[in-house]
Amino acid sequence: MMRGVILGVTATLVVIGLVLYIGVRAGMMPANADGKPSKLERWAAKTSLQATLAREAPTTAPPIALNDANLIAGIRLYAATCAVCHGASDGNPSRIARGLYQHPPQLAKDGVEDDPEGVTYWKVDHGIRFTGMPAFGKTLRDEQIWQLALFLKHMDGLPPAPQRVWKAVKSEAAGPPTADR
Ligand code: HEC
Repeated sequence: MMRGVILGVTATLVVIGLVLYIGVRAGMMPANADGKPSKLERWAAKTSLQATLAREAPTTAPPIALNDANLIAGIRLYAATCAVCHGASDGNPSRIARGLYQHPPQLAKDGVEDDPEGVTYWKVDHGIRFTGMPAFGKTLRDEQIWQLALFLKHMDGLPPAPQRVWKAVKSEAAGPPTADR
């Protein structure tokens, strides 16, 4: 009896493995970047990210002061490193943003001001798997990641001096679409 069950389970697993292998070899797993993610893919990616954030994102207040100097440092970093994907203050997506799978949110329109700074900190530090969102933990200092998180938290209510710097940021690659479709 037990032997039968073990054999049955093993055979089922082998068949599932074979079907997956044949599916991948036949190119049935989408490999293109200009499609729309399926509901299942969106659900799995979102749910796993939320659970990871709940476990790992810092819940303490940012270890840097909320002042003009830190906000402006965050804006300058954003302009140099993030605007190419997340857009400038006009919210117009660049060509890179339009072609990337998943589409990066244009943060001037679709911002993350509601997220705690620690959540944004984690995303910038570690990146988001299966998307174009890079991990910056190895290339930016801790203080710089917090400056970015601080700016994104206050993007929709900046004091006058940082607001002027932000408004002057232009996304290099942004421009009117030139392709026909
Ligand atoms: C190569 C493109 C690219 C670059 C450069 C990039 N990102 Fe992202 N980012 C993405 C994509 C794509 C997503 C969406 C991920 C998803 O769908 O979950 C994302 C998501 C995010 C999110 C989460 C948004 C949300 O709605 O939850 C934050 C915050 C973020 N990025 C911040 C940054 C910061 C700060 C920088 C610069 C240091 C940066 N990103 C650079 C592509 C990029």
